[in-house]
Amino acid sequence: MSNTNINDGLKPLTVGVIGGGTMGSGIAQIAATSGCRTLVFDSSPEALKNSAHTLEKVLARLVEKEKITEEKKHSVINNIQYINELNHFTSSNLIIEAIIEDANIKKGVFSELEQYVSDDCILASNTSSLSVTSLAAALKKPERFIGIHFFNPAPLMKLVEIVPAIQTSNKIAEKTRNLINSWGKLTVMAKDTPGFIVNKVARPFYSEALRIYEEGIADFATIDWSMKELGGFRMGPFELMDFIGNDVNYTVTETVFNAFYYDPRYKPSFTQKRLTEAGYLGRKSGRGYYEYAEGKTSPGPDQDHALGELILQRILAMLINEAADTVHMGIASKEDIDIAMTTGVNYPKGLLHWADEIGILTCVNRMDELYELYHEDRYRCSGLLRQMAREEKLFFENSTVIND
Ligand SMILES: NC(=O)c1ccc[n+]([C@@H]2O[C@H](COP(=O)([O-])OP(=O)(O)OC[C@H]3O[C@@H](n4cnc5c(N)ncnc54)[C@H](O)[C@@H]3O)[C@@H](O)[C@H]2O)c1
Repeated sequence: MSNTNINDGLKPLTVGVIGGGTMGSGIAQIAATSGCRTLVFDSSPEALKNSAHTLEKVLARLVEKEKITEEKKHSVINNIQYINELNHFTSSNLIIEAIIEDANIKKGVFSELEQYVSDDCILASNTSSLSVTSLAAALKKPERFIGIHFFNPAPLMKLVEIVPAIQTSNKIAEKTRNLINSWGKLTVMAKDTPGFIVNKVARPFYSEALRIYEEGIADFATIDWSMKELGGFRMGPFELMDFIGNDVNYTVTETVFNAFYYDPRYKPSFTQKRLTEAGYLGRKSGRGYYEYAEGKTSPGPDQDHALGELILQRILAMLINEAADTVHMGIASKEDIDIAMTTGVNYPKGLLHWADEIGILTCVNRMDELYELYHEDRYRCSGLLRQMAREEKLFFENSTVIND
């Protein structure tokens, strides 16, 4: 087998996966389902056993639901080999790391790995929050390194953020994107900045909802109701934070806040911190913003339409502002941002299409009203929105302005 076939799409490729936990197992399933010979390594033999067991169960369920045939199930299982030494990765064309989120541990694994693999093997990390550039710096050939950020559950989530480090060669970025596309995924390109696209642009969905609650404007249920009923979001912010886990969601916010040099736009909330400290993590602990234990109920929403609109428009203005600033900072294209938010977190519309629909000037005015009220940097309007409003521009040529 030639190592160049990652570019021309010839199969089978050999894909290595490091880490057999939640993400590694999902990524291995995707690669093996696409016909790649897949090697999975984990430092814990127990984790490898669990990974094999879970895969068997997941595939059996897919057969039961008639999504795949029994034959396909066997071919996927046969494509995967569990290995207990990094030096078994020598024949790999691409290796994706999905181990613990610790930069030093990841760097150690990559520098050891580089001794065993061929020069044209692509090395990638599934990191959610670390700098891809700093991981690449641990390598002798950093131009072969790239971030491939899958979402959980990886086999079901179509979106994958491709994150080149500043050292990554264009050829490697292109090959990687083509390969992940050939696995049936929808890829977007993101600059190596904290949170990439989705975890950055989505921050105000949680943080502005928390701020509205903290100011006593509305309770959890009312805010959730506004975003779902009036905004068309599948889940409200508090339901979603309870689903993700307050510990996990808080850590992402805190990481993004620290990484953006304490920009007040990303400031974490004490409400969420205290809930986390109390162990009120959400669904997984039986209690978060809502009660989930048997027999417990939580108060319902105040279905006041005017209040609901105020909540929706405030959170939406903050989301649009974040999306616009992400374009302005050159982190991703407007098209990729809208794809990322509609497929990665199922937003009902792309935020930038939504901005066009509302009217850019209205978006600017909403941000300026918030800034006037608080005089906090958190509410500063993106320079791009302001410039577009002045020039009467839209993000997309064919957009219809519904309401100015
Ligand atoms: N869970 C998510 O929702 C999610 C989503 C996107 C990206 N990520 C990223 O994916 C990575 C893995 O996350 P996860 O949720 O699958 O974690 P996990 O805890 O489920 O699995 C991590 C696995 O790595 C193994 N491991 C730890 N250190 C190792 C080492 N030195 N060598 C080999 N194996 C080692 C552990 O035994 C474990 O099986 C992290 O970088 C995380 O930020 C996670």
